[in-house]
Amino acid sequence: MVDSYLPRLRIVLPRKGESLEPQTLFDKPVRDVWLEVGFGAGEHLVSQAEAHRDVGFIGCEPFINGVAAVLSKVKARQLDNVRILDDDARPLLAALVDASVGRVFVLFSDPWPKARHNERRFISASTVDAVARILKDRGHLCFASDHMGYVRWALERVTADRRFSWTARQPADWRCRPEDWFPTRYEAKARARGAACAYLKFEREGRIGGRAPERKSLVRSGAEVI
Ligand SMILES: C[S@@+](CC[C@H](N)C(=O)[O-])C[C@H]1O[C@@H](n2cnc3c(N)ncnc32)[C@H](O)[C@@H]1O
Repeated sequence: MVDSYLPRLRIVLPRKGESLEPQTLFDKPVRDVWLEVGFGAGEHLVSQAEAHRDVGFIGCEPFINGVAAVLSKVKARQLDNVRILDDDARPLLAALVDASVGRVFVLFSDPWPKARHNERRFISASTVDAVARILKDRGHLCFASDHMGYVRWALERVTADRRFSWTARQPADWRCRPEDWFPTRYEAKARARGAACAYLKFEREGRIGGRAPERKSLVRSGAEVI
């Protein structure tokens, strides 16, 4: 499956210094492009692609068994709106043109729990900056984790970038998975061992017409609760 089908769906990064318009990855025009970093076995990616056949999906995952799992699901469900980068997502983020993606999902990303490894976490000032650049106005960065240290880390780093605001208004907004996200394998594993999960949705402010409303107090209270 990997040898026969991946070449059809694989994203080839442009040469250094060149950019990639994600709409061009798809055979037919798509109304939006959504990107998932570290899709694992692809439950969320494939469910989204099936639910939104008019959206183009980019999935990034260096784990080859996960890529193979997604390829067979994509083929079985006859999805023509999925493209795969079987590698680190960061060079792709760097290559995508400004304001070209509607949603970026980072779900149950490796938490690197030991303090000396925290800097390996996918969420960092530079990836947040890259996501802010490629997201369209009012686009969403969607993050989930069962590791509360990583949840606080993500909350602090994303809201430190003034282009993002956290959309939560009440505890249920981060304690319950949004209805338009789908469950993943790692979420199921976390719930099976009784771990709580947190779901953070951040909105990128509009480029024209000023900033999104100030949400500092909400962030502070959320960080304390989480
Ligand atoms: C803990 S797993 C979660 C998989 C899936 N999202 C889920 O919830 O079941 C994290 C995944 O992120 C992938 N990953 C880690 N760093 C990555 C990066 N820089 N770019 C793309 N994927 C990455 C890993 O290979 C791994 O499969």
